Amino acid sequence: MDIHKLDTYAKSLIKEAAYNIKTSLSSELIIESKSEANDLVTNIDKETEKFFIKHIKSDFAEHRIFGEEGFGDDIKDLSGYVWLLDPIDGTTNFIHQKQNFAISLGIYKDGVGILGYIYNVMEDTLLSGSLNGGAYLDDLRLPKLGASSVEEAVVGINARWVVPNRYVHHEGMVNLLKTVRGTRSLGSAAIEISYVVTGKLDAYISMRLSPWDIAGGMVIAKEVGAIATNLAFEHLDLLNADSFIVSKPGLHEQLLTDYIQIKQNPAD
Ligand code: IPD
Ligand code: CA
Ligand code: CA
Ligand code: CA
Repeated sequence: MDIHKLDTYAKSLIKEAAYNIKTSLSSELIIESKSEANDLVTNIDKETEKFFIKHIKSDFAEHRIFGEEGFGDDIKDLSGYVWLLDPIDGTTNFIHQKQNFAISLGIYKDGVGILGYIYNVMEDTLLSGSLNGGAYLDDLRLPKLGASSVEEAVVGINARWVVPNRYVHHEGMVNLLKTVRGTRSLGSAAIEISYVVTGKLDAYISMRLSPWDIAGGMVIAKEVGAIATNLAFEHLDLLNADSFIVSKPGLHEQLLTDYIQIKQNPAD
């Protein structure tokens, strides 16, 4: 498979999907809850996922799709070509703000990320990356990230993770907040990863994300030298939800070593 052709194809699908999402903003959304009251999904999340699946299945019959809304394949392994898709990352923003949401897509071959995309729909910017081919913001090649100290770092983190929780030890998180220059919470994991890639954030941390939130971003982040792991400093397996950190190289290690300690036993 020619990676350049696949890249061109994926970009044109993303742009068409984004155009459809924008057009839909003038009609009334159908909003439903999924696992809990604040876990929202709209008709547009579902339609966008179905749009991708219809095209991918007809043009690349052997490719499989791992999508948040469940219209794709039942994925238990990453063999062959797998498209990991979040049709709208930041659904709450989509509903409440009509901005700050993204299409997040990673294309993996036998478990290796080969193409990644984060399309900020209302900003109309496409962040993309390909394995060993660099990262781009639209047509602009992005430089490798430099170093940052913890004291100078602006860190993306959702405020809910700062209150005592079953995933990380509280004291370390409080120390982190006392030490860093500032924190931000944008409400879209994909956009927060894109902020790390473009140097607007120095790190982004989450206690729980799903494969489709991070798959595209991981391909792009690697190309600018950012490190992405779970909070136990392990590889992300992309089949299950996990904790997540993406950061500049030295900072990544320092944050995990000196500040963020995960609870081995979640009941601690
Ligand atoms: C959510 C967003 C949010 C993150 C959640 C994700 P969704 O994705 O990325 O920022 O904190 O964990 O589930 O549901 O809007 O696609
Ligand atoms: Ca969701
Ligand atoms: Ca998401
Ligand atoms: Ca989503």
